[in-house]
Amino acid sequence: MASNNSENKMEKIVSLCKRRGFVFPSSEIYNGFPAVYDYGSYGVELANNIKIAWWKSMTQYRQDVVGLDSAIFMSPKIWEASGHVKGFSDPLTECRKCHSRLRLDSLLEEAGVFADEKMSEEEINEIFNQNKDKIKCPNCGAQDFTPGKSFNLLVKSNLGNFTGDWSKEPAYLRGETCQGIYVNYKNVLDSARVKIPFGIAQIGKAFRNEITARQFIFRTREFEQMEMQYFIKPDTQEKYYNEWKEARWKFYLDLGIKEENLKWHKHENLVFYAKEAYDIEYNFPFGFKELEGIHARGNYDLNQHSKFSGKDLTYLDPSDNSRFLPNIVETSAGVGRTFLAVLSDAYCEEGEGENFRVVLKISAKLAPVKIAVFPLLKNKPELVAKAKEVFDVLKFDWKCEFDDNGNIGKRYRRQDEIGTPYCLTVDFESLENNDVTLRDRDSMKQERIKIDDLAEYFKKNI
Ligand code: GAP
Repeated sequence: MASNNSENKMEKIVSLCKRRGFVFPSSEIYNGFPAVYDYGSYGVELANNIKIAWWKSMTQYRQDVVGLDSAIFMSPKIWEASGHVKGFSDPLTECRKCHSRLRLDSLLEEAGVFADEKMSEEEINEIFNQNKDKIKCPNCGAQDFTPGKSFNLLVKSNLGNFTGDWSKEPAYLRGETCQGIYVNYKNVLDSARVKIPFGIAQIGKAFRNEITARQFIFRTREFEQMEMQYFIKPDTQEKYYNEWKEARWKFYLDLGIKEENLKWHKHENLVFYAKEAYDIEYNFPFGFKELEGIHARGNYDLNQHSKFSGKDLTYLDPSDNSRFLPNIVETSAGVGRTFLAVLSDAYCEEGEGENFRVVLKISAKLAPVKIAVFPLLKNKPELVAKAKEVFDVLKFDWKCEFDDNGNIGKRYRRQDEIGTPYCLTVDFESLENNDVTLRDRDSMKQERIKIDDLAEYFKKNI
């Protein structure tokens, strides 16, 4: 039975992701590896399409943002300068009964008590003590916890440490991609013919030792970020901050996400250097949660890297010969969270009984497969040959899938479940008229269209 508001929508999405090859739990044949996921054949297409849309919106549709791909490993000094070695932590508590390790701010939030990840250890423990009677362990129900302690989220490695003593100077797996942008700011400035205001965009993996990782791909220990840092003259911060807020909101609408499922969240408890910070939140099946952060960071990052490296990172403005340390407006989104938002937004159940279908109403530009091509019958070589011909014409411009398995109704359902916007069927009439039946995913309407007109049709509609 169809139910779009069903409480177990999340379970249905997780199950669809596994069944249809979008997302698999990591290392499954070895009983899994917590909070890490792999993207399957359709998942990698969807994730790539999201990244392409972001990359184009940053580096192709505008003149003032250039790309970068910096390495995951960087000098450990970078993480000292950025404040991550000392301050990048979440409050951790342990259930004394079942020994689950839990995030204290999340426990408080679930009990309806406001707590913020930016609170000090003392502050959060004080709130914890005042509300102990309201908090239960989500695994065993006990109410006996150790006091909260700050737990650093940076992931250490032993890269390049041949003495075996890596506690002295560990190489970290980067905790965010933007540090690679800050430390390359001068290189880009000197090589890319850019002038302030300009931005540097990067997509790449980041790693965090998340304490509790639930909610599927929403919070994982290995994930991908799409970050852009915009370097500006200090007195222009408000103007560019507002422009970027608007641009980022529009990005999600352009992906086809329903506006009623997006909202702004203003950070009240700012880190000391931040001038302003908003999140764009999405209405996930488990409620409104952060999709992307847009931060006015002042000149904190370049100032820190200048101090720690001893290098001058100021900018000489050719228009008036003034010299200043640029301020930064940051936009920081997660690929996995956007992926989950797109799936949540697109997941629909329609019809009853034999007409029941699960359909992903994903925008054509993000759909993993754009066009499916079917011969009506697989045991008719002339139909198979004609369908292959159609496939071979279209495959150079669009991701197509050839399917000759099962009855046509079943093939439509399979494509609906992965969000394919168009299906083409080659039948006996096709051999005479050089046309196909084109079936639209959302309306399920069918029309006949000449094979010679297909390219024009898809150019217009995809
Ligand atoms: N450079 C700023 C920064 O990293 P953040 O709020 O920690 O800010 C930015 O992260 C975005 O990265 C988030 O809005 C989210 O989309 C994504 N993200 C952060 N931690 C994540 C995690 N553990 N799993 C998946 N995505 C995550």
